[in-house]
Amino acid sequence: MEIVDRIIISEEDIQKRVRELGEAISQDYAGQTITLLCVLKGGLMFLCDLAKHITQPVAYDFMSVSSYGDATESSGVVRITKDLEESIEGKHVIIVEDIIDTGLTLNYLLKNLHSRNPASLRICTLLDKPDNRRVEIPIDYVGFKVPNDFLVGYGLDFKQLYRNIPYVFVPKKEFIQD
Ligand code: PRP
Repeated sequence: MEIVDRIIISEEDIQKRVRELGEAISQDYAGQTITLLCVLKGGLMFLCDLAKHITQPVAYDFMSVSSYGDATESSGVVRITKDLEESIEGKHVIIVEDIIDTGLTLNYLLKNLHSRNPASLRICTLLDKPDNRRVEIPIDYVGFKVPNDFLVGYGLDFKQLYRNIPYVFVPKKEFIQD
């Protein structure tokens, strides 16, 4: 695709790692029912692939938390734009994210969700960008650690586009500078 400067994680590597994460979760939650909490929109593709490799009964719920808008840098302002439909009280919840960058989104979400008394609350992120962290986040499942580049694909967007690309890439500079 023309916008791609270089591929950071191939489709094959993503699928292999997602399978491993699904298998690890299946082992850790043996005998339990799991609620996968998808943080829209970036977490959607990861959730769908991950869920295929979890052997327990799984429920989905969805939440939108906006902190970036269409900007490429975090504003630090977090707000819920769509809340969960079901109560998570007493449930085993795994937050499914495409990326943890500054950690500001998850920092807010963890506090908010803990106050709803789930039986357990863990975080599964495909990508972890630790160099940019501004608050410490306890991450339970990580797909890949990635460098502090602007990344697109497999859920990550550029101006709401390219989330459907099955690999993670760095876009060409001329595409992102307008
Ligand atoms: C992205 C990503 C996380 C958040 C991580 O979402 O999906 O939710 O940013 O960044 P942070 O660790 O710096 O808070 P975004 O707000 O871009 O929305 P989207 O998922 O709809 O793309």
